[in-house]
Amino acid sequence: MRTHRIAVIAGDGIGPEVTVGAQTIAEKAAAIEQVRLEWTAFPWGTDYFFQHGRMAPADYLDQLSQFDAILLGAVGHPKVQDHITLNGLLLPIRRKFDQFICLRPSYLYEGVPSPLVGKAPRSIDMLVFRENTEGEYANIGGRLYQGFPEESAVQTSVFTRRGCERIIRAAFEAATKRPRKKVASITKSNAQGFGMVLWDECFARVAADFPDVATESLLIDRAVMEFVRRPESFDVVVASNLFGDILTDLGAIVVGSMGLAASANIDPTRRSPSMFEPVHGSAPDIVGRGVANPLAAILSAGMMLEHLGCSTAARAVQTGVAGVLRESAPKTPDLGGTATTTAVAAAVESRI
Ligand code: NAD
Ligand code: IPM
Ligand code: MN
Repeated sequence: MRTHRIAVIAGDGIGPEVTVGAQTIAEKAAAIEQVRLEWTAFPWGTDYFFQHGRMAPADYLDQLSQFDAILLGAVGHPKVQDHITLNGLLLPIRRKFDQFICLRPSYLYEGVPSPLVGKAPRSIDMLVFRENTEGEYANIGGRLYQGFPEESAVQTSVFTRRGCERIIRAAFEAATKRPRKKVASITKSNAQGFGMVLWDECFARVAADFPDVATESLLIDRAVMEFVRRPESFDVVVASNLFGDILTDLGAIVVGSMGLAASANIDPTRRSPSMFEPVHGSAPDIVGRGVANPLAAILSAGMMLEHLGCSTAARAVQTGVAGVLRESAPKTPDLGGTATTTAVAAAVESRI
C-alpha cells in the first residue's frame, strides 16, 4: 500500500473545526486507491504563541520539509496582530517551499444560490492563479522613527521576470487543458509603472507561446466590477499576490460562500511539500459554535489528493461535495441551512 505523509496544522479559530472532517474524508477517499495517508499533527498557531512567544518552533520549516504535503486550517487570532501570526507561520511556508502557484477555483455548484441574480448552476467557473511568493507580499521594508511624529514606513513590492513569467506560464498551461482556453491578466499598470508594467510585458511574452489561448488584460478596479457584472466570462485568471488574494474572496462570495472556497499552494517542481488550505481565515465571529462550513477545507483536501496523484480519490471528494450541495442534505448557515460542521462533513463522508 502506498503511503503519503501529511503534516497537519489545524491552527486557529475554525481551523481545527473544519480540518478534522477534511482528514477523515481524504483518508476514506485515498483508501479507494489503496493509498494510506499518515497524518502528523502539529499544535502550532496562536495558542502555541501564547505559551512559547512564537507561532512554531524555530526549526518548523525543516520539520515540514520532510512531508509529502501540508494540510492547514487557518491562522489568525483577534488578540494578536495578524502580521505577527501570519508572518510567524503561514507566509514563510509559502515562500520557503517556493509554492509560487496559489490555485483558487470559484465554481457555482448546483444547489448553491449566487448572491448575483439569475446565475445558472455551473455557469461560473473561474480558476485564479495567484502569484504566491513575491509581489506585494515580498515582506521588504521597514519602519523609521517609530513612535515619533515623523515616523515613516516603507513597504516594497518585488516583481521579477522569473516570478511573473512562471506564474503566467502556469496559468496558460492550465488554460490549454480547459474547454474555453482563456486567460485574463489583472494588474494596475496604469498607476504602478514599474513592477506591474514588467508583469504586463511578461504576460505578452508568455502569451505569444500559446496562440490558441484567448487573452484579456484588465486593470484591477475594472476587474472587480467585471467579476460581479460578468463572472461567467472568466476562465483562467492570473494576478499578483495581493490582487489574487482580493479577487478570490470576491470569487468565493460570487459563487455562494467563503465556506466553499478551496485553495492549493503548489511547488510544481515538487522539491518541497505543497500546502492545501481553505481560502477563508479563522472566522473569529463564528468560532466555537460548530457552524463553520467544512466544505472549503474538504475541497482543499481533495486538491491535495489530486496533487499526490490520487485522481480517483480527488474525484470522489469533489463528487461527494457536489452531491451534498445538490441534494437535500445538511447545509451550514452560510448556505442558508441549520446544520452543524460535523453533520455536513458526515454527509460528504457517507457519499465517498
Ligand atoms: P475570514 O475568512 O476568517 O472570515 C470572513 C467572513 O466569512 C466571516 O464572516 C466568517 O464568519 C465567514 N466565514 C469564513 N469561513 C467560513 C466558513 N468555513 N463557514 C462559514 N462562514 C465562514 O476573514 P477575516 O474575518 O478577515 O479574518 C479573520 C482572521 O483570519 C484574521 O486574523 C485574518 O488575518 C485571518 N486569515 C487567515 C487566513 C489563513 O489562515 N489562510 C485567511 C484569511 C484570513
Ligand atoms: C489568504 C489570506 C492570507 C493572504 C493572509 C492571512 C496573510 O488572506 O490566504 O487568502 O493574504 O494570503
Ligand atoms: Mn485572503
